[in-house]
Amino acid sequence: MSSGKIIVCGGGGFIGGHLIADLLRQGHRDIRSVDIKPTKEWYQISPKVENLQLDLQEKGACEQALKGAHTVYNLAADMGGMGFIENNRALCMLSVLINTHLCMAARDNGVQRYFYASSACVYAADKQTMAEVTALKESDAYPAMPEDGYGWEKLFSERMCRHFREDFGLQARVARYHNVYGPYGTYEGGREKAPAAVCRKVISAKLSGKHEIEIWGDGKQTRSFMYIDDCVKGTQDILASEILEPINLGSSELVTINGLVDLVEQIAGIKLKRNYNLSAPKGVKGRNSDNTLIHQYLGWEPSTKLRDGMEKTYRWIYDEMTKK
Ligand code: NAD
Ligand code: GDD
Repeated sequence: MSSGKIIVCGGGGFIGGHLIADLLRQGHRDIRSVDIKPTKEWYQISPKVENLQLDLQEKGACEQALKGAHTVYNLAADMGGMGFIENNRALCMLSVLINTHLCMAARDNGVQRYFYASSACVYAADKQTMAEVTALKESDAYPAMPEDGYGWEKLFSERMCRHFREDFGLQARVARYHNVYGPYGTYEGGREKAPAAVCRKVISAKLSGKHEIEIWGDGKQTRSFMYIDDCVKGTQDILASEILEPINLGSSELVTINGLVDLVEQIAGIKLKRNYNLSAPKGVKGRNSDNTLIHQYLGWEPSTKLRDGMEKTYRWIYDEMTKK
């Protein structure tokens, strides 16, 4: 094992918290976690880790964060589900400062491996206009027409990782995450994504006795959702690999949003009247992950069944909501 620290940027967030928990389970003790949020707001936190509150948009903060680092996971970004990214394009784009300053600090500190969390939002809009999708393969990101704001930032930052590797030898690896869900994810407040939002709405209906649900869009739009355990495994495997180009990390189990609501209703044992809000943020009409490449490289793809992952997610959100 290399000497030096593993740095998880965005360690107070959803994926970062799970990644650190997994690294600890594997026996790593040389971990530093960095997030802009006060530590009391972190989704998961461990006293076995060095926990720092820093704004990684600042160059000096990135230099401080990466002192003595051999491995860096950049999971820090100002982001959320469609409700957030459609209404906060400038804030999303400002995350370019995080990856830019982290790449510079990684180069200057001789970091051996650098991971960048990109997104399926880099894919061109004209490939996602139908609910009956052809799954997105890596080359579909070009010619570029990504999600406005958030997707452009991700595509630019992917490109920056590539050029830091080519010009400065930074061993950067990039995964394009497709919608990730699970316990300890955001389920309220405006940044939540569809799986957690649907759980929250179904639980609210169940607890209040008002048996109705508002669904954004017509419910016919399609997505695939990746369970957090698959995301954490894939992230580490891609970092350790020789996969030099950005690669999909997502489930290929396609579902309509109506299908997702059906599933959560079954888990909750309830049936709700559906109200479709056609003026709410909708994003693309259809999106799925083509996993040919990850299969070729790793002989593996995210495989947790949506039903199994949603059971666990629903239970966790239910417990959180009833605790309050
Ligand atoms: P998250 O919002 O839970 O975690 C991101 C963390 O980054 C937050 O805790 C936030 O406080 C922190 N952060 C934001 N600005 C910062 C700054 N200036 N300095 C330091 N920390 C800062 O989100 P997540 O779901 O854990 O996502 C992790 C990464 O994966 C992000 O880059 C995100 O864009 C990417 N991603 C996530 C998904 C998904 O479905 N969750 C999909 C595609 C890509
Ligand atoms: N968030 C949310 N909340 N979405 C809802 C809701 C709701 O209550 N009801 C229906 N939806 C619909 C949205 O309109 C959208 O069509 C679909 O569910 C999925 O929405 P999100 O989960 O918010 O986002 P996304 O899949 O379009 O994009 C997400 O995944 C990307 C990676 O695949 C975002 O989180 C991006 O930030 C991420 O990069």
